[in-house]
Amino acid sequence: MAMIAKQCPDIQVHVVDLNQARIDRWNSDELPVYEPGLDEVVKEARGRNLTFSTQVDAAISEANIIFIAVNTPTKSFGIGAGRAANLEFIEKCARQIAKCSKGHKLVVEKSTLPVRTAEAVKRILSSSANGATFDVLSNPEFLAEGTAVQDLLHPDRVLIGGESIDAVERLAQVYGRWIPRERILTTNLWSSELSKLAANAFLAQRVSSINAISALCEATGADVDEVARAIGTDSRIGSKFLKSSVGFGGSCFQKDILNLVYLCEHFGLREVAQYWEQVVVMNDYQKRRFSERIVRTMFNTVSDKKIGIWGFAFKKDTNDTRESAAIHVCRDLLEERAKLAIYDPRVPESQIREELKLAFADSVGGLSDKHKKLIETNVTVVSDVYAAAKEAHAIAVLTEWDEFKTVDSARIFEDMRQPAFVFDGRNVIDRNKLVAQGFEVHSIGRPSK
Ligand code: UDX
Repeated sequence: MAMIAKQCPDIQVHVVDLNQARIDRWNSDELPVYEPGLDEVVKEARGRNLTFSTQVDAAISEANIIFIAVNTPTKSFGIGAGRAANLEFIEKCARQIAKCSKGHKLVVEKSTLPVRTAEAVKRILSSSANGATFDVLSNPEFLAEGTAVQDLLHPDRVLIGGESIDAVERLAQVYGRWIPRERILTTNLWSSELSKLAANAFLAQRVSSINAISALCEATGADVDEVARAIGTDSRIGSKFLKSSVGFGGSCFQKDILNLVYLCEHFGLREVAQYWEQVVVMNDYQKRRFSERIVRTMFNTVSDKKIGIWGFAFKKDTNDTRESAAIHVCRDLLEERAKLAIYDPRVPESQIREELKLAFADSVGGLSDKHKKLIETNVTVVSDVYAAAKEAHAIAVLTEWDEFKTVDSARIFEDMRQPAFVFDGRNVIDRNKLVAQGFEVHSIGRPSK
């Protein structure tokens, strides 16, 4: 919405939310998300044609186009728990729009949704008490975190699905202000909804594919980065998204694949469901394999040993930790009674502790006293890489932050216990240099050195 406001100064954009604290942060100098370049975009438009408020009803009644951009997390209860999307917030929005609207409005689904959700949204809207009429469009978002501003400025494509040609054209004209028309694709509603799930499934599948190969590389002595380079030069395969890692995270990949799996099962497509589910199974395996390798390498015990954790976000250049592989690795290591010193340049301590509590919580969110105490006594959150490494037996690199590439490794080696183990879950550190300095380095998809 900030980008639309920036590029179209004559369009008034009102962002509304029920959460006052969050809105206050959007109105402050410290935005609630860290995203390179976003501060400038918001500053340029805020107060001019971009406002943030909790005046939901008023904003609905004034708007011509309403974007629904609420959370659609995986359901944690009831039918489809652990797979289906929780559409509670979408439904509440649709009911509120129906209640507050008059005349004709465009309602745009921006949240990622299971196929045919627009149908449900349309039915709820058709119950509008004031005789309002609606066109429902699907306009999924393909930006990635960390590069959101660039992705929004120069998207590979914008996708708009809808039934009314006029309605699709009205939204296309908004994006057409800065995006070449040939990049604005229009489809029917269902294709648009499914394309978002399918795109994320294909992207995650590439990561799981290269991660599957990484396990074989470690066993055989091949180097996964060399294999990725070799296969990526085939233009049919392409070089992007072939970086082997400790596992993919983020708010989208796992959620959307599980959603796809649930949809396939719903339609009786068991084999298709199993095929896609394997992408998530492989990712879980990759995370577990990494923690097991740490324990096995460190003489089968990490109990009471300090391990420095470098990076907690699910990727660099974001403070988002949703589904981050780091959560799983830290949980596994804590179960082995390791002492963790966690450093991430952007994630606050409170968020790290909250994620770890959730990782140990039972299905209804309860945390046992034993696990609470384990987190309190065995986790410290520190403010730089050196504090994380001081007197540590090992360092585990879990996010590919650029600053990890330029640390003073000689100083770190002096500060660490011997043998000084480094487990590079992102293949970002200069392995040969560290080995020459005396470290024992274990990377993903490469023989150990
Ligand atoms: C993703 C999609 O890329 C985006 O189009 C969609 O709109 C939302 O979901 P995002 O989750 O922000 O975006 O990040 P992305 O860059 O896709 O990375 C996802 C995860 O995969 C990260 O944990 C990342 O570290 C991991 N990854 C990505 C790899 O391990 N290797 C790769 O080669 C690429």
